[in-house]
Amino acid sequence: MKLWRGGHLATLAGDSGWGLIEDGALLVDDDGLLRWVGPSAEAPAADEVVELKGALVTPGLVDCHTHLVYGGNRADEFEQRLHGASYADIARAGGGIKSTVAATRAATEEQLLASATRRVLALMAEGVTTLEVKSGYGLNAATEARMLRVARRLEGLGVDVRTSYLAAHALPPEFGDADDYIAAVCLWLPELHGEGLVDAVDAFCENIAFSTAQVGRVFDAARRLGLPVKLHAEQLSDQGGAQLAASYRALSCDHLEHLSPAGIQAMAEAGTVAVLLPGAFYALRETRLPPLEALREAGVPIALATDHNPGSSPTLSPLLMMNMACVLFRMTPEEALRGLTVNGARALGLQDRGRLVAGQRADFCVWDGGHPRELAACFGHNPLIERVRKGSQGEA
Ligand code: NIG
Ligand code: FE
Repeated sequence: MKLWRGGHLATLAGDSGWGLIEDGALLVDDDGLLRWVGPSAEAPAADEVVELKGALVTPGLVDCHTHLVYGGNRADEFEQRLHGASYADIARAGGGIKSTVAATRAATEEQLLASATRRVLALMAEGVTTLEVKSGYGLNAATEARMLRVARRLEGLGVDVRTSYLAAHALPPEFGDADDYIAAVCLWLPELHGEGLVDAVDAFCENIAFSTAQVGRVFDAARRLGLPVKLHAEQLSDQGGAQLAASYRALSCDHLEHLSPAGIQAMAEAGTVAVLLPGAFYALRETRLPPLEALREAGVPIALATDHNPGSSPTLSPLLMMNMACVLFRMTPEEALRGLTVNGARALGLQDRGRLVAGQRADFCVWDGGHPRELAACFGHNPLIERVRKGSQGEA
């Protein structure tokens, strides 16, 4: 047993509030779980003691939406957008996701692992202890499998990785017909799942991607295997994707700038998490805000993620996402931290992390700071002192 004491803990215990414990302590057992959390003065005895010296402690960060395995980069499209082209214009002209597909298909597994490793280390340096990685830049069985294998290998860096199969991301050039491609997407899934590569199934529901009917076929294939689903929904337009996803009890719907009241209602009833992605909103210079107040009123849990990808959100900073969520979306600093911890975990179907309470995993971050709102108030600054995963130190 190891005791960490003398920290300013933001436990996030309970459904609202920071759950602050000033001069708090955490007792971690040999299985890497939190055995006890409370005031330092009441802490049980332990074999080893770490003094936190008044530092801020939060749960480890959970980045529940990334596309961080890919080849190439799309800085050229950044320039094109600055000259007036839209994300959808570039996609329709064969750039966008399809350009990353070409670069990813051309990359070996080792090359993909090397570039993804650098990205994951950057996320870990800001306190990420669990992250999600999507496929979706292969769009054929071999390359989707290669991406997912790389995602699994990233766990070796000392971070938990959850994978999502996102073959329904764009129509690859070798298919003329989207319905034929969806049939192939459904066919590849059982094999990839059989290899242990898939934790969830995602899709891009949009007029430049796939319809609700096509996404429904992919979700049926997921359901046959007992896999949970999530959806890129209502990012550029309202397709009714949220209602479809909710009807499959989706873990999350992500983006949501164009989400309708009916979509919100459906998500609330299904317990589907709303994952907001301020990096993509910012980089695409979107003006339509996600319906934050209506989501709050309906009691939909709200998560936050980097959406790291080479096109719409080339960021590796979850802390910047907290600041942007507050400045651009008017989320509160507490909602932003919940979004990157307990609600991010929930968007991945994980109940065992995201809070500093007994029984949860001992995944936490030690920050140079006093009050947790400081994490959202700053930007372009990384105050992480130490990252602890399953009770193991020195992972910052
Ligand atoms: O989450 N919207 C679709 N998918 C990604 C972007 C992928 C890309 O542009 O490469 C997103 O924003
Ligand atoms: Fe995405």
